[in-house]
Amino acid sequence: MRKSLPAALLAVGLVLAACGGDDSDDGSTGEGSGGEGNGEVEVFSWWTEGGEKAGLDGLVAVFDEECSDFEFLNASIAGGAGANAKQVLASRLQTDDPPDTFQAHAGGELRDYVEAGQLEDLTDLYDEWGLTGSISDELLDAITMDGQIYSVPANIHRANVVWVNPDVLEGAGLSTDAPATVDEWLADMETLRDAGVQAPLAVAVDWTQTMLLEAVLLAELGPDAFNGLWDGSTDWSAAEVTAALEKYGQVMSYTNDDRASLDWPDAVNKVTGGEAAYNLMGDWAAGKLDADGLTPEDDYLWWPAPGTDGVFQWLADAFVLPVGAPNRAGTECWLDVVGSYDGQREFNTKKGSIPARTDTDPSDYGPYLQSALEDWSTDSLALSLAHGSAAPVGWIDAVNSAVGQFSAGGDVAQLQQQLAAAAQ
Ligand code: GAL
Repeated sequence: MRKSLPAALLAVGLVLAACGGDDSDDGSTGEGSGGEGNGEVEVFSWWTEGGEKAGLDGLVAVFDEECSDFEFLNASIAGGAGANAKQVLASRLQTDDPPDTFQAHAGGELRDYVEAGQLEDLTDLYDEWGLTGSISDELLDAITMDGQIYSVPANIHRANVVWVNPDVLEGAGLSTDAPATVDEWLADMETLRDAGVQAPLAVAVDWTQTMLLEAVLLAELGPDAFNGLWDGSTDWSAAEVTAALEKYGQVMSYTNDDRASLDWPDAVNKVTGGEAAYNLMGDWAAGKLDADGLTPEDDYLWWPAPGTDGVFQWLADAFVLPVGAPNRAGTECWLDVVGSYDGQREFNTKKGSIPARTDTDPSDYGPYLQSALEDWSTDSLALSLAHGSAAPVGWIDAVNSAVGQFSAGGDVAQLQQQLAAAAQ
């Protein structure tokens, strides 16, 4: 049986109710709703709509087939990048009321949970499932801590992608080829504005601006110095960082004023609706665009963020076995599906990500994902702060807050001080 119902659990119910809940299961999160008693496996994520929900549904379809003794219980909480979900999760973990499994990012973010003693070691299960040799080496490295593995990665996403409306560019007399640098991009945005496109670059709430900031830093500093921001080898107070932040300020001046009130799909919609030309977003946008019935290379184009061609800024969604998960056997079955060939195909073809496994058949995937598979195998790699591969949650929250303040005030010196402080 689950522990007593804390306020956080009530919050799950409220948010589910507020966002319409899930439509594949009963969405109930009440006391005793999971656990071995009735075979439910409570899966906690923030995938509630569009391509994200379609990806989750794909995984669930395989789970229903492979784990028919168990039942999927959807505990997803709306809000891109887990903006709401992570808070509820933190309070559930704090009150020893974990879901059976939850979505966590590979890398810095996962380390947080491991160090807090909140995750079970899955190394033996990897051997049992024959998974160790099937996961991409770079990823296996990122999820191995002191020789042990605590999560099963479902995918690899790319963060530094710009989604483009070709008609808007052509309407302003611009080429649909990617600008090579941030400066060239800024010049094109000025041309768009002169042609009447007031806010050529659509952004949304703070974490989406953090992604834009990261893309500009990556372009201006290059991948080595950018990765060094997360291990202390690049100084946040350096003059190069100041110059990059000034450039970020210029880029932000071409964005929409209503950004703070939007989630990421709203910003993508501004592009497909023709109000904006560009949105920088992780490739879960490809899942959304597919779910919306749009045609790649026709209705929309994609580019590596200007100045970052040849760099794949990666992140990975993984699932874990929390210490004290009520339904351990059911969760093991879920994790086995997450790591399986079929599970990853059914998930990733809809989610807009490439599989974490290496035995992929590219012909299962659409044009965007085929290009991402190719880039993953040839590009140099960079970490993502906004999506947890670079650093723990506390650092992410501090940067999101600094970026949110910059959006309102535009003070570069203050932003740089706050970014330097967040790294301490
Ligand atoms: C990320 C997550 C992606 C996608 C995105 C937007 O943190 O890794 O899978 O869900 O948030 O919600």
